[in-house]
Amino acid sequence: MTLPIRIAPSILAADFARLGQEVRDVTEAGADWIHLDVMDGHFVPNISFGPDVIKSLRGYTDAVFDCHLMITPADPYLEAFAKAGCDRITVHAEAGPHLHRSLQTIRHLGKNVGVTLNPATPLSVLENVLDDVDLILIMSVNPGFGGQKFIPAMADKIAKARAMIGDRPIELEVDGGVTVDTAAMVTAAGANVLVAGSAIFKGESVDAYRQTVSALRSAAESGRVGSN
Ligand code: DX5
Ligand code: ZN
Repeated sequence: MTLPIRIAPSILAADFARLGQEVRDVTEAGADWIHLDVMDGHFVPNISFGPDVIKSLRGYTDAVFDCHLMITPADPYLEAFAKAGCDRITVHAEAGPHLHRSLQTIRHLGKNVGVTLNPATPLSVLENVLDDVDLILIMSVNPGFGGQKFIPAMADKIAKARAMIGDRPIELEVDGGVTVDTAAMVTAAGANVLVAGSAIFKGESVDAYRQTVSALRSAAESGRVGSN
């Protein structure tokens, strides 16, 4: 099943002093989803923001809130993120011993269910949960920081994930080091959702955001054509 290309700016790279306006601006610039990177200083070596910040941003856009939880444990906080207005909630397979339970909890909260894997984690951990998820996120950098380089071996992992998904209507998302230069490779491998933080927010105006979002989209579409 071919799902649309979706560009998901990560606000981790935005100006935290004016996050509401940044969310509004990037929506106006053509973002499909807003990617929300939640970090706890424990699962990953950095701290970002939590459900209260997300709740305060909810009024600034109608775009999908795509929440990437880099926290452990995740289960005690899933309800808070659902109530904060996240539409999709993605947990790390490495973040706890009961992945299936976490996915079920997100489903019961009425949200779209995502699972993500660190670069070193094999795809085999997904085998028994493929029918329980709406989204698979392949980390193409080690999570914790924006502005890192795409790990080249992840292109092959994306292609293998695509093959595992088969005809299921699962979004295949890639996060880390996605730029106008790497976008085509990512979609040629089979991904349809591109997270981009520093590539987008290095711009300094809505026009600059718009140009990058549309350049990412064109590159992504061209990679897709090339793969057919
Ligand atoms: C990394 C985060 C990413 C990050 C992407 O832990 O999950 O979403 O912000 O940043 P860039 O696009 O700068 O690699
Ligand atoms: Zn992320």
